[in-house]
Amino acid sequence: MSAGIVQAAYIVAAVLFIMSLAGLSKQETARAGNYYGIAGMAIALIATIFGPDAQGTGWIILAMIIGGAIGIHFAKKVEMTEMPELVAILHSFVGMAAVLVGFNTFLDHGDLTGAMLNIHLVEIFLGVFIGAVTFTGSVVAFGKLRGLISSKPLMLPHRHKLNLAAVIVSFLLLMMFVNAEGSMFALIVVTLIAFAFGYHLVASIGGADMPVVVSMLNSYSGWAAAAAGFMLANDLLIVTGALVGSSGAILSYIMCKAMNRSFVSVIAGGFGTDGSASTGDEEQGEHHEASAEEVAEMLKDARSVIITPGYGMAVAQAQYPVHEITEKLRKKGVNVRFGIHPVAGRLPGHMNVLLAEAKVPYDIVLEMDEINDDFEETDVVLVIGANDTVNPAAQEDPNSPIAGMPVLEVWNAKHVIVFKRSMNTGYAGVQNPLFFKENTQMLFGDAKESCNKILEHI
Ligand code: TAP
Repeated sequence: MSAGIVQAAYIVAAVLFIMSLAGLSKQETARAGNYYGIAGMAIALIATIFGPDAQGTGWIILAMIIGGAIGIHFAKKVEMTEMPELVAILHSFVGMAAVLVGFNTFLDHGDLTGAMLNIHLVEIFLGVFIGAVTFTGSVVAFGKLRGLISSKPLMLPHRHKLNLAAVIVSFLLLMMFVNAEGSMFALIVVTLIAFAFGYHLVASIGGADMPVVVSMLNSYSGWAAAAAGFMLANDLLIVTGALVGSSGAILSYIMCKAMNRSFVSVIAGGFGTDGSASTGDEEQGEHHEASAEEVAEMLKDARSVIITPGYGMAVAQAQYPVHEITEKLRKKGVNVRFGIHPVAGRLPGHMNVLLAEAKVPYDIVLEMDEINDDFEETDVVLVIGANDTVNPAAQEDPNSPIAGMPVLEVWNAKHVIVFKRSMNTGYAGVQNPLFFKENTQMLFGDAKESCNKILEHI
């Protein structure tokens, strides 16, 4: 394949990647978006492997077969709830790849001189630095999401100063690296510093901020890929890396807004988690219980119902009976809608994916901002496996670790039914005063079983 054809293929692939991102931004077009992405990646791979710069095509194809088989195996096995962990570990591969490409390019940087050499050395240095931060950061995020590492933030003394020192020392090493026209010593030292920096950055972020961290690492992995693209002089890798980097950054920003966290503070680590904040574990009063039969009666008498699903719906796989309840009630003329918090569940769009899987119509699934004013006129709210995202402490208790996070104001409805198995806390580990409100009743048990029992009585 000639260089001209490869460039043309790269342009087509880049356009397909942009169309893919556009498609993925809406549920209705997400499937098409995925196909655009697959097509773009297939074109990119074929053009690169059979292009003029590639060598050892046989080895590349062998590696792709082995890697592809492992990928297919895990993609088939992984549960929806484990998706963030999978994404996190995949980011770590991108980070490690950037480190390896950096070292490889350094060992084999040809006969560049003067300004070109300096630019090349800066590319290598930054690529290795970003890649190493992404690698250890993603491994820690994986460990935290999988429960291998405590989700509590690591609070080293002077942690911000440590981070600042890592950045300053790395900058000095960059100077040394360029001045010496390449120094293996400086490159190895900065790799070690960046590994430690990435570890510390993510270890010091608490559980509630994890979704932002995953999308932030997504952004870092994009920049690491773009840096690798510069090192390898591969335009498509630069474009793709920049697309991933900027879309990840935009997603992080949107999530920060949804959780009322400052973007800079999340990146700096350990924001709002000085360990002194109340976790709200203390007694909050009495809670009231309801039976599935009582809830069914309540639903039959209701004119308007809002369902706010959360992580527990995903664990219980309750989306199917939830859909059946919705259909039965809608046939009786009840106005049933869904209120989706932007960080409900464990990954962006988690609830939307589950509801779409169960064939809940898109037009009754509303975003938090679209539905939050409607709770006052709602007869019954079904909180299905949600906890932090419906916690009034976010608004009422300035000392709460989730203070300031926008939440679904379910307590304004006439009746609130909370489906969960116990009085345990949610992801952020804080107690929920909603459970003790006069108009709230708890329906204990697995959400799927509870929904099935309600179905029997409707
Ligand atoms: P959570 O606050 O995590 O609460 C989920 C609740 O579901 C738990 O209190 C649990 O109570 C209940 N539950 C678990 N399994 C259940 C089952 N089989 N049947 C019934 N209930 C069950 O959920 P949320 O409101 O969706 O909030 C999400 C949290 O995760 C936020 O703190 C958010 O910041 C964080 N987070 C979000 C993301 C993204 S991007 N969405 C990613 C990572 C973290 P029991 O144990 O008593 O049953």
